[in-house]
Amino acid sequence: MQTVVSGIRPTGNLHLGNYFGAVKNFLRMQNEYNCYFFIADYHSLTTHPTPENLHNNVKQVLAEYLACGLDPEQATLYIQSDVPAVAEMTLLLSMNAYLGELERTTSFKDKARQQPDNVNAGLLNYPVLMACDILIHDADKVPVGKDQEQNLEMTRKFANRFNHMYKQEYFKIPQPFNYGDALIKIPGLDGSGKMGKSEGNGIYLADEPKALRKKVMSAVTDSGPSEPNSPVSEPVQNLFTLMEVVSSPDTLQYFKDKYASCEIRYGDLKKQLAEDIILFNTPIREKIEDIKANANYLNKVVNMGREKAQASAEKTIRDIREIIGIKRF
Ligand code: TYM
Repeated sequence: MQTVVSGIRPTGNLHLGNYFGAVKNFLRMQNEYNCYFFIADYHSLTTHPTPENLHNNVKQVLAEYLACGLDPEQATLYIQSDVPAVAEMTLLLSMNAYLGELERTTSFKDKARQQPDNVNAGLLNYPVLMACDILIHDADKVPVGKDQEQNLEMTRKFANRFNHMYKQEYFKIPQPFNYGDALIKIPGLDGSGKMGKSEGNGIYLADEPKALRKKVMSAVTDSGPSEPNSPVSEPVQNLFTLMEVVSSPDTLQYFKDKYASCEIRYGDLKKQLAEDIILFNTPIREKIEDIKANANYLNKVVNMGREKAQASAEKTIRDIREIIGIKRF
């Protein structure tokens, strides 16, 4: 059976981008593959969360994973820092990662712009840590959104480089994955390209209907189509893209037809979209708080995950030490 690895940083509540870019795939994959899904707490340290925030966010993401339907009996659910072999492997692999290529990574350049007073070494080494998350379980497939494509490319590069340097095909070369084929990007509704926590435009799984309606109703649009079949502007396309993932195909077609015939009323479109998002997120939202209140259960889940993830990671780190020449006499 093929192996799947993916993770989410505990930087706040999960939004629709996280769900449709990642978690939706996790839910189906857990039935078909040997899956490792984790909470990337080491990665989130690059933004210097307070200890309290870090702790609460790990708990939040874990509760949200479970509320979405991830099953700890089927998939290995764990916290990244519960598997210290990942940190050791990161040290080892970083010897084969070069300053120039790390500096050129788009996510590094973006972060360096976003937090110019905190351009730490963890940010630079971020793709190496991510590669180790994946390679330590010898993954075949990595379900992620479009924004992680470059990091995955780096993982593949590091795996190939290691295999080449030590003249053996030790690592498999993992593939980015989405059931719909191409990796996806869920847009924000503020006219920006991507929905993201740091973009401040998230529509969250935990959002209450009232807050959600307000966010959707304030989405950026344009002044409307000027003639039949005119091209769709980016902000309006963003609304359609969200409709594609939460609404029925008929609803989407209805509004696309209205647009094409210049009869569209953006207020109606937004109202429908808001109600469809509410229908989608309510069953998840209602479970989150109950799960969060059950600390015994949460601890049981991550303890179980830690054991399985450690066993798999320790096998890899033993092999790697041996391959690179760290061994007894
Ligand atoms: P993070 O925490 O930023 O995002 C978690 C997952 O959500 C996806 N995602 C999106 N997909 C579509 N549209 C969006 N607007 C959107 N926003 C976020 C991301 O692509 C990701 O799949 N570096 C990773 C965490 C990580 C990881 C790994 C992932 C660490 N190690 C190993 C896979 C394998 C990150 O920051 O994701």
